[in-house]
Amino acid sequence: MHGSFITFEGVEGAGKSTQIVVLADWLRDAGYTVMMTREPGGAPQAEQIRDLLVSGDTASWTDMGECLLMNAARTEHLARTIRPALKAGSIVLCDRFMDSTRAYQGGAGGIDMTALRQIERAVVGNTGPDLTFIFDLPVAAGLERAKTRGGDDRFEKKGRAYHERVRSAFLQIAAEEPDRCKVIQADQTQDKVTQDILAIIKAWLPVKGGGHHD
Ligand code: TMP
Repeated sequence: MHGSFITFEGVEGAGKSTQIVVLADWLRDAGYTVMMTREPGGAPQAEQIRDLLVSGDTASWTDMGECLLMNAARTEHLARTIRPALKAGSIVLCDRFMDSTRAYQGGAGGIDMTALRQIERAVVGNTGPDLTFIFDLPVAAGLERAKTRGGDDRFEKKGRAYHERVRSAFLQIAAEEPDRCKVIQADQTQDKVTQDILAIIKAWLPVKGGGHHD
């Protein structure tokens, strides 16, 4: 039996992490085996790369350097954590994945999309997400939320204009791949956001719960 791969994407401070925990509990209650993970990170070497990426000055990496490090972390994460869990039949819930590279390093950072997609294909192969939630909210509100929860990482410091480009890029991805990507209005109460996610999951699981990874 093969599992399902669900990713959570979006701008800073959108409340993804909270909702992942709520969904994981709901799925476990419904009898599914669930694994929660995150990017960059999710495997020992990938977590080391995360430390390099989120600390230091905004200018300490070029956009291409970030893109390659994100993909280096991703390839370890896929090999050590995601593919084994899918093979074992789990539902994998991942906080950020390849769409973050498209939005941050591509849309906001300006990396050539053809090169970015080639790297993505080489790294991800056929282990792309089956379903992706894209959390959307105004950039100012998200950055404010991220700040109050104590966040101060390299990406949060990149400025408003950068994060506006990130937001637009995510919405563009959602428009291009509407079957896979579902936009979640994240500037609502936590309960309402949970309801929106569960409505999508309930409609999706009976059809795709068996997964379709080779
Ligand atoms: P987090 O704050 O959601 O834990 O993610 C850490 C930061 O890494 C966040 O600001 C987004 C950024 N990021 C990218 O720029 N590209 C990527 O591919 C991923 C996975 C994350």
